[in-house]
Amino acid sequence: MLVYSSHSFVHIVSLAVQAEAQQSYVNNKQLNCEQSPNTTLGFVCNAATSCTAYLTFRSTPTYNTPVTIAYLLSANASQIATANNISDLTPLPTDSLLIVPVPCSCSSSYYQHNASYTLKSRDETYFYVANNTYQSLSTCQALMAQNPYDLHHLLPKMTLAVPLRCACPTPSQTAAGFTSLLTYLLRQGEDANSIAAKFADAGADVPAIMNANMLNQTSTIFYFTPLLVPLKTEPTLQNTNTNTTPTPSPPQPLPPTNPDSSHKWIFIGVGIGAALLVILSVIALVWLFRHRRRSHKSSNPLPTEEAPLPLSELSQGIRSAMETLSLYKLEELEIATNSFAESNRIAGSSVYHGWFNGNEAVVKVIKEDVSGEINTLRQINHSRIIRLSGFCLHQGTTYLVYEYAHNGSLKDWLHKPRLDWKQRLQIAYDVADALNYLHNFTNPPYIHKNLTTANILLDSNMRAKLANFRLARALEFDKVTTRHVVGAQGYMAPEYIETGLLTPKLDVFSFGVVMLELLSGREAAADKLHESIGLVLSGDNVRDKLQGFMDPNLDYPLELAYSVAQFAHSCVAHNLDVRPPISEVLLALSALLSSSTDWEEDTSLTFTD
Ligand SMILES: *[C@@H]1O[C@H](CO)[C@@H](O)[C@H](O)[C@H]1NC(C)=O
Ligand SMILES: *[C@@H]1O[C@H](CO)[C@@H](O)[C@H](O)[C@H]1NC(C)=O
Ligand SMILES: *[C@@H]1O[C@H](CO)[C@@H](O)[C@H](O)[C@H]1NC(C)=O
Ligand SMILES: *[C@@H]1O[C@H](CO)[C@@H](O)[C@H](O)[C@H]1NC(C)=O
Ligand SMILES: *[C@@H]1O[C@H](CO)[C@@H](O)[C@H](O)[C@H]1NC(C)=O
Ligand SMILES: *[C@@H]1O[C@H](CO)[C@@H](O)[C@H](O)[C@H]1NC(C)=O
Repeated sequence: MLVYSSHSFVHIVSLAVQAEAQQSYVNNKQLNCEQSPNTTLGFVCNAATSCTAYLTFRSTPTYNTPVTIAYLLSANASQIATANNISDLTPLPTDSLLIVPVPCSCSSSYYQHNASYTLKSRDETYFYVANNTYQSLSTCQALMAQNPYDLHHLLPKMTLAVPLRCACPTPSQTAAGFTSLLTYLLRQGEDANSIAAKFADAGADVPAIMNANMLNQTSTIFYFTPLLVPLKTEPTLQNTNTNTTPTPSPPQPLPPTNPDSSHKWIFIGVGIGAALLVILSVIALVWLFRHRRRSHKSSNPLPTEEAPLPLSELSQGIRSAMETLSLYKLEELEIATNSFAESNRIAGSSVYHGWFNGNEAVVKVIKEDVSGEINTLRQINHSRIIRLSGFCLHQGTTYLVYEYAHNGSLKDWLHKPRLDWKQRLQIAYDVADALNYLHNFTNPPYIHKNLTTANILLDSNMRAKLANFRLARALEFDKVTTRHVVGAQGYMAPEYIETGLLTPKLDVFSFGVVMLELLSGREAAADKLHESIGLVLSGDNVRDKLQGFMDPNLDYPLELAYSVAQFAHSCVAHNLDVRPPISEVLLALSALLSSSTDWEEDTSLTFTD
């Protein structure tokens, strides 16, 4: 047994410890699950009935971001990020110490913060969950006292109430200037001195630590037991994870479980609101489903041709575009499109299907100068964005030659039951991928400004590509306003309609609307989808209302649909600051997509595990 002797606790501690006033140390009693002295059940309620308390947690390969740790501990990811000066989603190196602010309150006789945990495998016991998963923030005794399940009959998918040990300052601590208590997990090599040093900025000191735990010079303290550390100010830690580019980190897989609706629903049904919480649900879901890899394929047969033209005829924008694009002669386009035959026209548009040296492409005819779009597209190169391969100018008309998307626009597919759940999610992912590229990886960043299902094209594999960049704007500054408000009805963000404000969150709003169309199979303009989703997700009977909202022709996993709906809802928030950045949306969709793959396999195959 690892025993840490207290001989290094050299400082004299006030012997006037009021036994009733502080908390007794657990004294390794948490190891014997068959006996539950009340020190193992929690810290006794002896002062304020509730307060903010702090827990500590060391990152593990599974719980290594504020978002995942917040999920485990039922805490708030942005508060964890702030307390530790890190970003929400960047993974931390394993074993990084993190501070976790939580609300702490009396539940019968003991202080606790409630978390919940769904068992993942048959190997998990009450002891394992308390000591290993929750790093001694709970005890097997407290778990047994608060869960109905017999010790020997724990099964995967059971959800446990997990009381986490926390406490509020006693009157004597308050009088000494302490405002909160931190639950610290003792490690090998640590003692009261090193712990006090760690939190010295927040006013921790050795006598107060000893006093808080009713320890004295002769006491023995043990590794893997929690100690209370009284603090005068909010604790902060400097961690190594930095706030740089939000590289989405795929959540770590846990042991496989089969999808089961009731428990997950309970979990994700709790609490609604900020995007962060939604990410939590998404990541939680990913754990509940298995993680699977996707493979990206992209094949764009593109016409490549060179043709000289007098440069003097061209505007400046076009001139620079020539460096990267093919310039066609009108005759070549006529040959390719069968002289712009009606049979080559894509219904209801000025776009013609054509063949260029055996490659399929489309020619868009625009009776004006569109050097803006040419210039934008020229700088953009992404597999999820329709590629402009060349153009032609003839008597004031511009002909743009694009790669061909075999399956036309998403708008035309929305009402056909043939798009299955996985395809819809893949389309949403592809569009988010394209927007993420525009917002975060082009210089200057672009906003598309006109995202609609008509501008999302589908290739032969039903993968989406973003098209129509006529309204796209480069963002030289964070925020730009325009007096000239143009866009598609039902897709435009309120701040844009009201004030002409242009930010990337404008695209996020439109994207939310597109997701709602994918879920419901209904049109943005006709049904005010961004308003109805709020009603669907609030109040009672969310499950039934969501089923009513969903496309009746679609077979879908309800839990995932719920997550997507929540995400879409946060994207269409009236307040643009509430909308998540597209990078977060992409991360969540990638997780949902993997889960959907598993769902699909689970529904199409018989169980194999
Ligand atoms: C803790 O246990 C002791 C005896 O073992 C008992 O006297 C005391 O009332 C208990 N305290 C609480 C809060 O249950
Ligand atoms: C998390 O904390 C932040 C800052 O205190 C707050 O704005 C946000 O609403 C909280 N999120 C949730 C889901 O409670
Ligand atoms: C925590 O859970 C217990 C039951 O396990 C309950 O009595 C108590 O009210 C809960 N506390 C909070 C703050 O929800
Ligand atoms: C308790 O958990 C720690 C890791 O947090 C582990 O090293 C230790 O072996 C566990 N104790 C027991 C008795 O399993
Ligand atoms: C130190 O605390 C232990 C209980 O943890 C107690 O039995 C002992 O009498 C105390 N010693 C002194 C010197 O107060
Ligand atoms: C947070 O970390 C950054 C570096 O990542 C540092 O520049 C900044 O000063 C830190 N903030 C605080 C409050 O310590």
